[in-house]
Amino acid sequence: MIGAPTTGAPGAAYGVGMRVLVTGGAGFIGSHTVIQLIAAGHDVLIVDNFANSKPTVINRLEAITSKHLPVHEFDLRDTERTERLFAHEQIDAVIHFAGHKAVGQSSQEPLDYYQNNLGSTFSLVRAMTLHGVAKLVFSSSATVYGANAAVPMNEDFPTSATNPYGWTKVMIEQILRDVAVAQPEMRIALMRYFNPVGAHPSGDLGEDPSGEPNNLLPYICQVAVGRLEKLRIFGDDYDTPDGTPLRDYIHVEDLAAGHIAALVRLDSTDRAVSTWNLGTGKGTSVFEMLHAFERAVGRTLPYEVVGRRAGDIAASYADPGRANTELGWSATHSIDDMCTDSWRWQSRHPNGYPDA
Ligand code: WQD
Repeated sequence: MIGAPTTGAPGAAYGVGMRVLVTGGAGFIGSHTVIQLIAAGHDVLIVDNFANSKPTVINRLEAITSKHLPVHEFDLRDTERTERLFAHEQIDAVIHFAGHKAVGQSSQEPLDYYQNNLGSTFSLVRAMTLHGVAKLVFSSSATVYGANAAVPMNEDFPTSATNPYGWTKVMIEQILRDVAVAQPEMRIALMRYFNPVGAHPSGDLGEDPSGEPNNLLPYICQVAVGRLEKLRIFGDDYDTPDGTPLRDYIHVEDLAAGHIAALVRLDSTDRAVSTWNLGTGKGTSVFEMLHAFERAVGRTLPYEVVGRRAGDIAASYADPGRANTELGWSATHSIDDMCTDSWRWQSRHPNGYPDA
């Protein structure tokens, strides 16, 4: 039966000491969330196929947490392997990060994005249902607000998308709402991230995109370490204070903390599905982010203003009020913190994680 009492560690029923399956736990946000789950007293097991992450991240996680982390390396679309994991492991809750996430790539490979992101979720939720695991935190995205949303964005806004990646998030949110109607014992959190940036303060963990970065901060990081020649600023003719687009950049440590808060809240809410923005509520421009990074590096960085990037919008930032009040959560790290922590990671790992 869904939600059957677990045989977990004492307190598992009350959100403390849960055994949490983290899908995509070797990824950027997943790995930072694993550290905070353990610090909060939970046990963690990870499933990752390392399609967009490296096994060495697990070694770093074990060094930072001083804990052995069980890792199951397989693709969640393998329904038999996924069901077997739930049959053999005690799991109280799931945080589901695993999925493809590159907006541009999704337009070139739509079938792969729909099959991977939706297929892995179908397989995961079926296994959860079969084995009575009722608590699910899903990694959604502010991209579900689409191209014409006003700012600040709140969770009651209509959802839409302008690319297959965004549509996978819109569709999975709807699928999970429908599952919750059929299985009202489910407790599901839809977490809408704005622009995750930053790195763990140790400097040993950070964002390591494969290939040339699409996103602003990893691109600036690679300019700063000399891997890329200069930052191309995609347009300075937007209707914003300095002409460059505004985004709600949020430190990955704040993002991770939001997941822990949501996970615990699922133990006390009687709502089957909750939706929470994870953002600072402030818009920061491209120039502001560039200059903050220059402060972290201690020198100016080369850039060139070029034409607008297709699909970009002038402003996107959160109304984080619901997460503030319902989760007791708010972002605490500043833009300068984000840049300082990103630079510590990138300067120590100019080429990202080693392959071995
Ligand atoms: C930010 C700003 C660019 C790169 C994307 C996804 C979204 C979410 C976060 C997953 C924009 C400008 C960027 C560069 C630039 N991911 N920029 N030069 O587009 O807001 O959101 O990542 O959920 O789904 O859409 O982030 O970092 O790509 O761009 O000038 O080389 O930086 O024009 O204004 P974005 P971004």
